[in-house]
Amino acid sequence: MAKLALLIRGTALLLCLLVFQAASTSDGQASVSRACIGSERDALLSFKASLLDPAGHLSSWQGEDCCQWKGVRCSNRTGHLIKLNLRNIDMDRSLSLSAGEMSSSLATLQHLRYLDLSWNNFNGTSIPIYLSSLKSLRYLNLSRAGFSGRIPSQLGNLSKLQYLDLSWNYDYYGNKSYILDLAWLPRLSLLRHLDMSYVDLGSARDWFQRVNMLPN
Ligand SMILES: *[C@@H]1O[C@H](CO)[C@@H](O)[C@H](O)[C@H]1NC(C)=O
Ligand SMILES: *[C@@H]1O[C@H](CO)[C@@H](O)[C@H](O)[C@H]1NC(C)=O
Ligand SMILES: *[C@@H]1O[C@H](CO)[C@@H](O)[C@H](O)[C@H]1NC(C)=O
Ligand SMILES: *[C@@H]1O[C@H](CO)[C@@H](O)[C@H](O)[C@H]1NC(C)=O
Ligand SMILES: *[C@@H]1O[C@H](CO)[C@@H](O)[C@H](O)[C@H]1NC(C)=O
Repeated sequence: MAKLALLIRGTALLLCLLVFQAASTSDGQASVSRACIGSERDALLSFKASLLDPAGHLSSWQGEDCCQWKGVRCSNRTGHLIKLNLRNIDMDRSLSLSAGEMSSSLATLQHLRYLDLSWNNFNGTSIPIYLSSLKSLRYLNLSRAGFSGRIPSQLGNLSKLQYLDLSWNYDYYGNKSYILDLAWLPRLSLLRHLDMSYVDLGSARDWFQRVNMLPN
């Protein structure tokens, strides 16, 4: 009886070892195929350094492999960073600016296809013009991100954009973000979804004509 128990325990231990070894081998392969590109990692760290993060959303943003960080996704094929999702669901736990404005290091992420900064607090600063240099973007969500001031017409350079959400941006005093003219909008010819709720279009007399020029 005692011998049998010993045999069973021994077999179980052996199985555990085998499973453990298999798991660590496949982990190893996954991290090799999704290694993080150094310049993109530095860009994320500079961006993080320009933010206050009392809720610790970015606490996983440390160590070498930025592809494993929360909210970050890299391409399996090229290794480039293709998605950054910092959508926040609780207004009281938002990211905000530690000083000045958000770090322009994000402009390094030239392969980024998806950027979501919604429900954060960029302290009533303007949407930075350098975002319009992220020319691979398909999806840009800046909804309720606490931006204010003029929405840059350079967004018209994001020619691959399919989703653009600029809704509900205003500062601490309630000053809305605004658009002076929408001549740039029809250049976004792949656009399928546009949200400009609560954006002040009072000076954009051409808005109806411009929106109608969008093919989709
Ligand atoms: C990339 O790799 C991840 C994890 O290994 C996998 O879940 C995902 O489906 C892959 N994506 C593509 C497009 O192959
Ligand atoms: C931005 O807003 C947060 C939250 O209200 C505040 O703690 C922080 O000091 C502000 N940053 C700047 C640069 O004003
Ligand atoms: C943008 O994000 C908000 C949530 O923060 C979401 O409600 C909205 O649907 C998103 N917009 C698009 C176009 O996906
Ligand atoms: C937008 O595109 C124009 C012409 O293609 C270029 O001259 C300009 O520098 C671009 N602006 C930005 C912010 O990328
Ligand atoms: C924002 O609103 C405050 C208070 O109403 C006002 O004093 C200030 O001039 C406004 N700022 C801008 C940039 O419109």
